[in-house]
Amino acid sequence: DNQESQAMLEAHQWLTKLYHHLLKNSKDGRKAYEYLLERGFTEETIQKYQLGYSPDDKEFVVTFLEKKGFHPQAMVKAGLLSVNDQGNYADRFRGRVMFPLRNHLGKTVAFAGRSLGDQEPKYLNSPETDLFHKGRLLYNFDLARSSIRKEKTVVLFEGFGDVISAAQSGIPYAVGTMGTSLSSTQANLLKKYADQIIVCYDGDRAGIEAAVKAAKLTKSIGCQTFVARVPDGLDPDDFIRRHGGGRFKKEVLDTSDTYISFMMSYLRRDYNLQVEGDRIAYIEKVLQEIATLDRAVEREHYLNELSSEFQLSLETLKEEISQIRSRQG
Ligand code: CTP
Ligand code: MN
Ligand code: MN
Ligand code: MN
Ligand code: MN
Repeated sequence: DNQESQAMLEAHQWLTKLYHHLLKNSKDGRKAYEYLLERGFTEETIQKYQLGYSPDDKEFVVTFLEKKGFHPQAMVKAGLLSVNDQGNYADRFRGRVMFPLRNHLGKTVAFAGRSLGDQEPKYLNSPETDLFHKGRLLYNFDLARSSIRKEKTVVLFEGFGDVISAAQSGIPYAVGTMGTSLSSTQANLLKKYADQIIVCYDGDRAGIEAAVKAAKLTKSIGCQTFVARVPDGLDPDDFIRRHGGGRFKKEVLDTSDTYISFMMSYLRRDYNLQVEGDRIAYIEKVLQEIATLDRAVEREHYLNELSSEFQLSLETLKEEISQIRSRQG
């Protein structure tokens, strides 16, 4: 209910402050602070994103929340504490770098905790609660919203580090999905503010597959979708750290592929275009994609490309497209 949600919000607000304070003022927190600086986050960024540190202690937060008058059972429901079979409460996040997850109003509704070394899981997130639905929240949307509206552009990343790095280096219209696939709720939210969406996921297999899905989804609801490629298997955060925001913008974002070019090169990897059967299957796949484009000019543009690459008449390709479109209704 309402009172319960209010208490959950308050607890999250307290813990945002506590974790941030501990990052800067506790001995172990200092290590986490240095880790963040080492990653290239500035003091200003750490402040702005209220990054924090959860002490490696079973009962630090239990005690803190109790003193503030919160019921431990409610805090379990809020995803901040855990409870075992004996009914003992314990801190959920221990010894991690804390990323507060803010909703569109800028209120912390959940946390993600990153391990400092290579303990698994790398990220431990709050569970789904009444306040937090992973598939609805877009990381950084509250801070990015006005520049998304102004630029009519949004860059979509898969990780927190990518979003924060981008925002810190001159790309404030950056949001993140936190590793999950983009939901239609999230896609529609972005569509409300942006015309252009640039999907900028990691260059590994998982990132590419997720980019295909996000690209298809955003295209299907009428966005102008682009897909960026980060060279050398780096993730966007790594690239920015190594080469800076200026080069990231010029060499990665500004050279993003259009939806169809991206799909063409993605599909191409499954076929050997020297083999006739493969070639035909590939062309068929590409035509399916072109058929989904709303604008005739856009369709014609890509048909021209196909026509010259494979020496097919534009007439034939156009005919194919009308057939596919009439089947699609
Ligand atoms: N993620 C998660 N749980 C994991 C791994 C990943 O929730 N065990 C989510 C996180 O939101 C993470 C995103 O998926 O930011 C992307 O995953 P990955 O690329 O592996 O992480 P990075 O953001 O690159 O992490 P880092 O730079 O801190 O190593
Ligand atoms: Mn709900
Ligand atoms: Mn990844
Ligand atoms: Mn990554
Ligand atoms: Mn990373």
